[in-house]
Amino acid sequence: MAGLRTILAALVLAAVAGGAALPAAAQPNIRLGNEAAPQADLQVDRPMDRPMDRDAPPVPTQIPGQSRGETWHGIRLGERGTVSIPNRQAGVLIQSEGEAWRAVRNGPLSDYGVWALGGILALLALFFLVRGRIRIDGRKTGRTIQRFNAFERGVHWLTAGSFVVLAVSGLNLLYGRHTLLPLIGPQPFAALTHYGKLAHNFLGFAFILGVVLTFVLWVGHNIPSRHDLTWFLKAGGLFSKGVHPPAHKFNGGQKIIFWSTVVGGAALGFTGVQLVFPFSFATLEEMQLYQLAHAAIAIVMIAIILAHIYIGSIGMEGAFAAMGDGQVELQWAREHHSLWVEEVTGEKPGHHHGTPAE
Ligand code: HEM
Repeated sequence: MAGLRTILAALVLAAVAGGAALPAAAQPNIRLGNEAAPQADLQVDRPMDRPMDRDAPPVPTQIPGQSRGETWHGIRLGERGTVSIPNRQAGVLIQSEGEAWRAVRNGPLSDYGVWALGGILALLALFFLVRGRIRIDGRKTGRTIQRFNAFERGVHWLTAGSFVVLAVSGLNLLYGRHTLLPLIGPQPFAALTHYGKLAHNFLGFAFILGVVLTFVLWVGHNIPSRHDLTWFLKAGGLFSKGVHPPAHKFNGGQKIIFWSTVVGGAALGFTGVQLVFPFSFATLEEMQLYQLAHAAIAIVMIAIILAHIYIGSIGMEGAFAAMGDGQVELQWAREHHSLWVEEVTGEKPGHHHGTPAE
């Protein structure tokens, strides 16, 4: 342990000395405006302070009348000065908020994320074990009706496809170092993360487009109504066979999915754009907050969408076809969207529920 520390300390020293060896022109000429020495030029360390690099040009790290420790302490506490080089960001010597950001990101954010995603997967597995696949209760008619046209399905798969890649590449950014890296080794991990990051940056825009189109296409069907209340009171009939609360095109649960997609998607898009164009719209401190918000919203949304993917695929017989070829079995539609069937076909709701009498 002590040996490791010595090696680390030596590496740090070597890095500092390497930095000191940069051409003098690249060194920010720092002035600190503090009361003791207003706008004083920093005193310069002589090369003899640095046995590892005697010929290094001077490094300004000290204010006259202060010890080096006092100078750095002041900088750490956010004492402002000026830099003469054009790149002002390079004049930020210590950004203490960065430590708080890293502690939250690697601490509670990552931990709660594991619980949220693990929790939803466990719940879905439990639900599948207890309830099994939700079947079409009544006798199938062999007839279908169109639920979504090609454009709607295209928009759904644009949103869904981009979201899945964004979710996987994003989770890799947060957790990959602790999960994938030990499994596949540094070189494959570096390549995968590099391309994942590229995909993440570009697909973000496809997802934003998908969310905007989703909103425009379906907002009219997602205004809350009194039927949603009944639907929630009966838990959508999800837990009991043969219970089918009436619903228009989208039931209460689907409206939750819709609004999560729109509101969550907008928030992810907004915070994401701040991070894709660093310093264009936000300061470093703001970007740190946007990063935490981006990751937290993404985790909540991935948890919600996992439930959506489950019910839209293996969880419910007949559901996937709606986004597959767009045609659903009429009996499926009667059971899950009776009021919508009535609107489209003129059929009375409740008339065909359950197994027909004959
Ligand atoms: C990747 C796997 C996915 C599958 C298998 C899937 C499946 C489906 C199906 C079958 C429907 C139609 C439900 C119906 O006819 O009533 C649907 C609707 C919808 N999907 Fe997906 N979906 C997936 C991913 C996503 C993602 C990633 C999002 C958004 C980020 C999303 C957002 C929506 C929305 C907003 C609707 C309309 C509301 C609803 O039916 O819940 N889907 N999806």
